[in-house]
Amino acid sequence: MEGTIDSMRVLVCVASKHGATLGLGHVVARRLGEHDLQPQVRLPAAVTDLDEYHAVVLGSALYANRMMPTLTAFAHRWGEALAAMPTYLFNSGPLDLGPVNDLPLPKDSRDLAARIGARDVQLFAGRLLPNDLRASERAVMRMIGARAGDFRDFKAVAAWADAIAQDLATAL
Ligand SMILES: Cc1cc2nc3c(=O)[nH]c(=O)nc-3n(C[C@H](O)[C@H](O)[C@H](O)COP(=O)(O)O)c2cc1C
Repeated sequence: MEGTIDSMRVLVCVASKHGATLGLGHVVARRLGEHDLQPQVRLPAAVTDLDEYHAVVLGSALYANRMMPTLTAFAHRWGEALAAMPTYLFNSGPLDLGPVNDLPLPKDSRDLAARIGARDVQLFAGRLLPNDLRASERAVMRMIGARAGDFRDFKAVAAWADAIAQDLATAL
């Protein structure tokens, strides 16, 4: 990797069903921009080439303890390229369970992080808005007693982006 941090283009590739995780992706991007990096937020299906990027932040909402298939398919398709560059992975999902630090990451997330050699993996709290959900999803949420609300910790996400910027500066 060559150049200085202010010429580094960072892809923030986020799979999100109802927009909450995408919102976290925008927080990451905004913060990376404040560190003079050049972030771009994209949905997995919108990425056609990784050549133009120096680093990639992957993010996915969690459903039924798995990442979204669009993110998994993306990581599969670009696995070789991702393994050759600095990558970071976050998942978002837990709802009002207190600190998320002690919660285990889903297996597919751990496997993906290992496969591409992600430099860090984080789990962040999510958001559940009943009006966003289909009837079947609402039924599942009722069954498991999930509480509605926005539990996203924007400060924690911004702090993670700060750490990524610092890591990239030393990775140069
Ligand atoms: C049907 C359903 C299943 C869910 N399963 C999980 C899960 O297994 N683990 C988890 O942490 N969060 C789970 N969640 C919570 C979502 O991950 C959370 O609402 C997330 O913020 C949604 O992100 P999105 O708006 O980007 O799709 C589930 C939510 C729904 C509606």
